[in-house]
Amino acid sequence: MRTTISVIKADIGSLAGHHVVHPDTMAAASKVLAEAKAQGILIDYYITHVGDDLQLIMTHTRGELDSKVHETAWNAFKKAAEVARDLGLYAAGQDLLSDSFSGNIRGLGPGVAEMDIEERISEPIAIFMADKTEPGAFNLPLYKMFADPFNTPGLVIDPTMHDGFKFEVLDVYEGEAVTLTAPQELYDLLALIGTPARYVIRRIYRNDDNLLAAVVAIERLNLIAGKYVGKDDPVTIVRLQHGLPALGEALEAFSFPHLVPGWMRGSHYGPLMPVSQRDARATRFDGPPRLIGLGFNVKNGKLVGPSDLFDDPAFDEARRLANVIADYMRRHGPFMPHRLEPTEMEYTTLPLIQEKLKPRFKKEADVYKTKESIYTKGKSTGETHD
Ligand code: F6R
Ligand code: MG
Ligand code: MG
Repeated sequence: MRTTISVIKADIGSLAGHHVVHPDTMAAASKVLAEAKAQGILIDYYITHVGDDLQLIMTHTRGELDSKVHETAWNAFKKAAEVARDLGLYAAGQDLLSDSFSGNIRGLGPGVAEMDIEERISEPIAIFMADKTEPGAFNLPLYKMFADPFNTPGLVIDPTMHDGFKFEVLDVYEGEAVTLTAPQELYDLLALIGTPARYVIRRIYRNDDNLLAAVVAIERLNLIAGKYVGKDDPVTIVRLQHGLPALGEALEAFSFPHLVPGWMRGSHYGPLMPVSQRDARATRFDGPPRLIGLGFNVKNGKLVGPSDLFDDPAFDEARRLANVIADYMRRHGPFMPHRLEPTEMEYTTLPLIQEKLKPRFKKEADVYKTKESIYTKGKSTGETHD
């Protein structure tokens, strides 16, 4: 059976700051998805949240970029945002950049990860959702999952995985993509994805048979809106097992809480902390950036599950290390490299401050002349000093 899995997410407003989705907004979205299910637009759905992002996980047979499915998601976000407004939740409607829907939710603010697949006899998947970071945050863990035998022994041991995987990488500034094959072009791949703010892994295919193995939601909200409107807290769907990374290999990639851009005001590097659904709330310094993972089986379009994948003591040490890193990074205060590099800060509200200071800058030559005249006047005796 061919099934489409669509994960569409948006920040439509949250409780007590950019902190956590309110259950009433989830209920409002749920009602819209239930109607769509009754009408046969969706086969199944599951609604969840990470931090201030409402996540709609939907299955259907309508393919990617389907206008009915996207409209359903848009209406769910609109209804949820209405509730957010009624409750006075913070930043109600934040990611809904347009007043009206036209065919496709892309470019309107919400993030979209979709894969249209031929269901295997058993189709295990993991959906990883993060808050307070951006899509490039998945570059490193996806690289580990699909290209690094130190993480994924299946690349060495499993004959189906032994030929490696193809990575489709999007240049989010130029809007063009390139496909690179691992392990053959590993160094070329790393040359790009090591700059995750610009080059983002979008899709991964198995070399053996071109099977689609993973997709990432890429929107770069601030590039769309032209100003800072929150980070595009990212989502990835990863297919698992039987010639693909085992569930444990996929999870292993998150055992190292690597530094990602985002966190407070979308302007700071911080560790990506894998947490349970229960802890999927942004707290300290609006973070630290959080990641949840839900495991499902997809059967005839039905979502069986989920299992809360990081709700496990095996990730306690990753969380502890993330807390230590958070302390260390925080002690840099407003200095780089805790704060993002200037190119990334261009998409925050910092340029407004720089603009204000602009008239107060004086040309070096002018400053020098002023000093020179004071110096000559004061030192008429001809004395010199070091
Ligand atoms: C980051 C984020 C928060 C806000 C911060 C300030 O993506 O959502 O860290 O940037 O809480 O928010 P405002 O400017 O709305 O008070
Ligand atoms: Mg928010
Ligand atoms: Mg968010």
